[in-house]
Amino acid sequence: MTQPRGQWSGKLGFILAAAGSAIGLGNLWKFPYMAYENQGGAFVLIYIAAVLTVGIPIMMAEILLGRRFQSSPVGTFMKAGADRPGGKLWAGVGFLGVLAGFVILSYYSVVAGWTLHYILLALKGQLGELARQPELLQDHFVNGFLANGWQQSAYHLTFMALTTGAVFFGVKGGIERVARYLMPLLFTILIVLVIYATTTPGFDRAMSFLFRADFMAIDRYGFLEAIGQAFFSLSLGMGAMLTYGSYMNRANSIPRSTLQICGLDTLIGLAACVIMFSIIFSFDMQIQKSSTILFTTLPTVLVQLPGGNIVNGLFYLLIAFAALTSTISLLEVVSSFAIDELRWSRRRATLTMGSAIAVFGVLNAWSLGGSQALSTVNPLGRSSTQGLFGTLDYLAANWFLPVGGLLIALFVGWFFRRGDAFAELTEGHGEVRGFGLWRFLIRFVAPIVVGAIIVSVILGYEYQ
Ligand code: TRP
Repeated sequence: MTQPRGQWSGKLGFILAAAGSAIGLGNLWKFPYMAYENQGGAFVLIYIAAVLTVGIPIMMAEILLGRRFQSSPVGTFMKAGADRPGGKLWAGVGFLGVLAGFVILSYYSVVAGWTLHYILLALKGQLGELARQPELLQDHFVNGFLANGWQQSAYHLTFMALTTGAVFFGVKGGIERVARYLMPLLFTILIVLVIYATTTPGFDRAMSFLFRADFMAIDRYGFLEAIGQAFFSLSLGMGAMLTYGSYMNRANSIPRSTLQICGLDTLIGLAACVIMFSIIFSFDMQIQKSSTILFTTLPTVLVQLPGGNIVNGLFYLLIAFAALTSTISLLEVVSSFAIDELRWSRRRATLTMGSAIAVFGVLNAWSLGGSQALSTVNPLGRSSTQGLFGTLDYLAANWFLPVGGLLIALFVGWFFRRGDAFAELTEGHGEVRGFGLWRFLIRFVAPIVVGAIIVSVILGYEYQ
């Protein structure tokens, strides 16, 4: 009846795929510009605190649910919730996750498309030239490229085709193979760039911007955005890690894998910040549009290397691959829902869902200047929610994911048997020394932190 579930080839396979899901544009594109908009220090520290107290325990909870119930998020919550108070209602957590996956992928793929534009510019030999004049590069990107809806749609659709292709070929054939080779290469380049950054004149200012906390600079939205970013960057709150956990071998350790993934993800985000802020402060750059920092800072430095044009192109190629291992996990959640619950074949599920998201995402591609109407809608009325793209990003990262994560924490902390959680975390690990701490975090700390932030925003909500 049920189709056999795919499996990772082993321990490294799971880690690479899950880290591949976590590490992506969230670390390289979004985290640096959010830190920039929220004035650094306090935001970064709140972010790190969120990873420790909320991210790590919830990631363990997601993976253990996936491995225990061997299902998509919807199926997992249907099975797990069946004999609990609330019963079938818990399946709603799974549905919220599938919806979040759909929405996030529809705009994430647009940004991933930007990397394709840079690869093409490098191939045509034009990126080096633009990068030699930082103002020209910014102007090209912000006023030319972003406003061109046709061009952005084409790149977005190309990226969706790549994603759909990878998911189409299944767990081992597509997803794992990509992650296995390219992630280590990306890490190496980032390490080299961090070392370079320490030699630049802007490095000291970058460090104090990033790590000197001024908590007065942050309001309740800053807290919401820091916690939302933790969920976004760790791929939590919508069942992506749950789904990957369902393909995980019982001989592997959930606690150990989780710590490794979270540690790596946080380090990469911080590394990206150190690199980009060192450049910004070294050149005293005036940032026209903060969400383009990834695309306007690095080329100006890479171009100074021998073969700068090609080095630039290579760098964006690696970012494209980091994005691909993330888009794969987003589409995997949406398609595995169709595979497990609607009993569709993998082919039908990936092609249908991939196309639907691609078509919907075209609206996002036009909402950064291409279409007047789509670029100016702003139902939430904040500067960071401008346009369809901004609104969806804000809703998904700051509401869908934290609410999903809150419900997952409540479920595992309060409705799931302690003994079952203990058995699952022990299997493949041996004695889990921090079990008591984990249970305390998942029952009390995570729900209270996320809940308090959500409530403070709702109660104090004002359109400004
Ligand atoms: N974590 C990825 C990034 O940082 C994005 C991502 C992939 C994601 N899968 C997800 C975000 C699931 C939330 C939920 O780029």
